[in-house]
Amino acid sequence: MKSHVFNCIRLEGKVAFITGGASGIGETAARLFTKHVAKVVIADIQDDLGQSIIDQIGEKGVVSYIHCDVKVEKNVENAEDMAISKYGKLDIMFSNMLEFLRNLIPQS
Ligand SMILES: NC(=O)c1ccc[n+]([C@@H]2O[C@H](COP(=O)([O-])OP(=O)(O)OC[C@H]3O[C@@H](n4cnc5c(N)ncnc54)[C@H](O)[C@@H]3O)[C@@H](O)[C@H]2O)c1
Repeated sequence: MKSHVFNCIRLEGKVAFITGGASGIGETAARLFTKHVAKVVIADIQDDLGQSIIDQIGEKGVVSYIHCDVKVEKNVENAEDMAISKYGKLDIMFSNMLEFLRNLIPQS
């Protein structure tokens, strides 16, 4: 019983930023991190989907959405700044769309 309680608050006090967090692996991570009591910022380009995730998991924890296209450096800077100004810090950066960016680099 005691270890179960411990396992459910592994990320207490942490602030997590997740790119591509409105669906797929990023959404699952957002739900898991929220369950572990992290404050979560979801950054994605699908605003309606992002908002619906916030509506679904917002009651269970602290979660925010911001529009952020990871291909636009300024978008990423703004989203990180928003996360820091809202929650005071950033502990976890889940670059879920890194693989996506890698695919944009021409292979020699
Ligand atoms: N699903 C897999 O089996 C698998 C395997 C290996 C690698 N990956 C990689 O993991 C990452 C996530 O995979 P997934 O299956 O969850 O993908 P997904 O397509 O289900 O979800 C990706 C999310 O990223 C968002 N997104 C797309 N372009 C974006 C952009 N420019 N800026 C911000 N957000 C953007 C989408 O709106 C979506 O919410 C991808 O980079 C994928 O290449 C996935």
